[in-house]
Amino acid sequence: MRTFFVKSFGCQMNVYDSERMSETLEADGLTAVDEADADIVLLNTCHIREKAAEKLYSEIGRVSKRARKNGTRKPVIAVTGCVAQAEGREIMRRAGAVDLVVGPQAYHRLPELLRAQADGQKDIVDLDMPASPKFDHLPARVRRAPSAFLTVQEGCDKFCAFCVVPYTRGSEASRPLSAILAEAEMLAQGGAREITLLGQNVNAWRDPVGETSDFGTLLRAVASVPGVERLRYTTSHPRDVSEAMVRAHADIPELMPCLHLPLQSGSDRILALMNRKHDRRFYLDLIARFRAARPDLAITSDFIVGFPGETEADFEDTLSIVDAVGYAQAFSFSYSPRPGTPAADREDRIDEEVKAERLRRLQERVLANSLAFNRSMLGRRCDVLIERRGRLADQWIGKSPWLQSVVVTDPALAPGLIVHVELAAAGPNSLEGHMVTMKNNRQW
Ligand code: SAH
Ligand code: SF4
Ligand code: F3S
Repeated sequence: MRTFFVKSFGCQMNVYDSERMSETLEADGLTAVDEADADIVLLNTCHIREKAAEKLYSEIGRVSKRARKNGTRKPVIAVTGCVAQAEGREIMRRAGAVDLVVGPQAYHRLPELLRAQADGQKDIVDLDMPASPKFDHLPARVRRAPSAFLTVQEGCDKFCAFCVVPYTRGSEASRPLSAILAEAEMLAQGGAREITLLGQNVNAWRDPVGETSDFGTLLRAVASVPGVERLRYTTSHPRDVSEAMVRAHADIPELMPCLHLPLQSGSDRILALMNRKHDRRFYLDLIARFRAARPDLAITSDFIVGFPGETEADFEDTLSIVDAVGYAQAFSFSYSPRPGTPAADREDRIDEEVKAERLRRLQERVLANSLAFNRSMLGRRCDVLIERRGRLADQWIGKSPWLQSVVVTDPALAPGLIVHVELAAAGPNSLEGHMVTMKNNRQW
């Protein structure tokens, strides 16, 4: 029996795809094992920044070297994900150890491609972006976890000047409401109490077959699936926010009070150069509408520093909007020029030292905001969904409604339990919770 191991890089959509790949291979009779024992190693890659993409090549080197060192045969290496789509056959020219390159819209064909490889076919490349979506060909969900991802939308038509996603994932496509609900039911029956809907622009979701139902309708429908106690979604785009989506935060009890709404820059001039198609005012107005619907909303964002042409004044606009919004968390990145994107051709690049310094200042500002947000919760009681063990004995880590990591110490806990705690101590990245009661828990 052939064995495999999937290693996932990049965003949550890749994590979801990795799970679906594993399920596809298991349904075909293969067995998931540790990397060291695997006949087939799948590297599910990310192309978003240069560092992420280059990681693939060090990984290939590492996998081949380990086999040489142990005197075992090199495992079959399959490169999947966004680097596969972006670089294609070039990967094999650069790294001869690679046997298959399979794009993110073609991985449902992995079983047949791996069979062809076993039959002696060399250098297999499948980068098809099929008309008939992969979701129609994937097996049922079987992996069990208290919190599960569910991809509802893929691809992007926005073409921000810095970003590879429209090229690696293709154009925006939504899954039908009925397929999403069927998958949510399967996940809930398998024990998931929390579902996170995923999409590159998740709120661009529109039912491709039904009425013109928008993202708010989808949130309502998934929240009403029996067993779904917590609902989240990511990543939303400011341009795709509808009134129904804002209202959902006021009306749906299962919908967690979180909004990841990436802004990238606080400067109108840079937002225009980035082709984000909105300005600072538009964004702040959206935030005000969301906060009116749900005052305790935890708002998070992504930022890029050092986009070509960014001045100190532009950067200070980013710092000031961080304070104006009061983010619960934010990811900040140093601009990385990506081949094939419009911004990569610009000559007004920012020095690496300036980028590094701005990144440090932004991260400091974000950290101060996160700490303030977490401290504002002290003394509050909330539910925590336990996900995994902590470092110390009897210590467990779970998520608050606001997606904070909460550490709870109690010998009676286990993954999948929901406990009611009082938030007792706060750092920038986690809080401590004291048990108040167990919640109406189901056996997990
Ligand atoms: N669809 C989401 C973002 C997906 S990519 C949105 O529109 O907001 C995730 C994050 O990676 C982006 O929000 C951006 O902050 C960062 N990113 C994308 N391309 C980048 C690049 N070339 N250099 C640095 N960061 C980048
Ligand atoms: Fe990339 Fe922009 Fe699309 Fe987000 S909206 S995936 S940043 S092109
Ligand atoms: Fe990376 Fe592709 Fe996700 S480029 S961030 S894995 S969509």
